[in-house]
Amino acid sequence: MDFEKVLNMRQSTRKFQEKQITEEQLEKILNAANRAPIGSNKYEDIHITVVQNKEILLKLCEAAWERFSRLQKLEDIAGDTIDKTVPKEKKNNLFYGAPTVIFVSHKNQDLQPGIEWANATSVINQMHLETINLGLASVYMWGALESMRMIPELDNTSVLNLPNEYEPLIALAVGYPVKELEELPIKHEIIKMNKI
Ligand SMILES: Cc1cc2nc3c(=O)[nH]c(=O)nc-3n(C[C@H](O)[C@H](O)[C@H](O)COP(=O)(O)O)c2cc1C
Repeated sequence: MDFEKVLNMRQSTRKFQEKQITEEQLEKILNAANRAPIGSNKYEDIHITVVQNKEILLKLCEAAWERFSRLQKLEDIAGDTIDKTVPKEKKNNLFYGAPTVIFVSHKNQDLQPGIEWANATSVINQMHLETINLGLASVYMWGALESMRMIPELDNTSVLNLPNEYEPLIALAVGYPVKELEELPIKHEIIKMNKI
């Protein structure tokens, strides 16, 4: 797909079909991750976990369900991006029903404070754009992981089977969108800027 078109189609998707993505599509998404720029070239600090097992995805939602029961707090953070149609009492896949969720973890480090978040975002964004390029859809998942950090007793990150010292920071929920994506108008100066 033309790069400008990818940029204009890029958007967060929060309703996915159950249909799984293909191995070829997954490989292309992971190739995009491997092309991401990483601070100080420390690729060894990053770890990617692809989860396509429904039960594990539900397990990873436990903390988010608990947090979802505190709806007001969630609304304060997520505003109109949360899907209030998800019934609290029903144990759903809170990764918006996406059949594939890709977790980006980072080795704990204190050499360059904060660079782990920048690195994780760099990797996630490459994959996010590639999903658009492939005619798929995706959304960053911060909330579910933040829930696990906030509710340590429901922190199920151990099920990701990570090597020692790696912490999952951000995930990307990936799949086929329920509604096909369209090109969107350019958002002029939605980010404030000045030129000097
Ligand atoms: C660091 C980061 C974390 C995000 N976390 C979530 C999340 O947990 N859940 C969610 O639905 N969207 C999440 N998003 C998506 C944003 O809400 C979305 O990008 C923003 O509302 C703009 O909408 P658009 O992506 O459709 O243009 C996140 C985006 C970023 C960059």
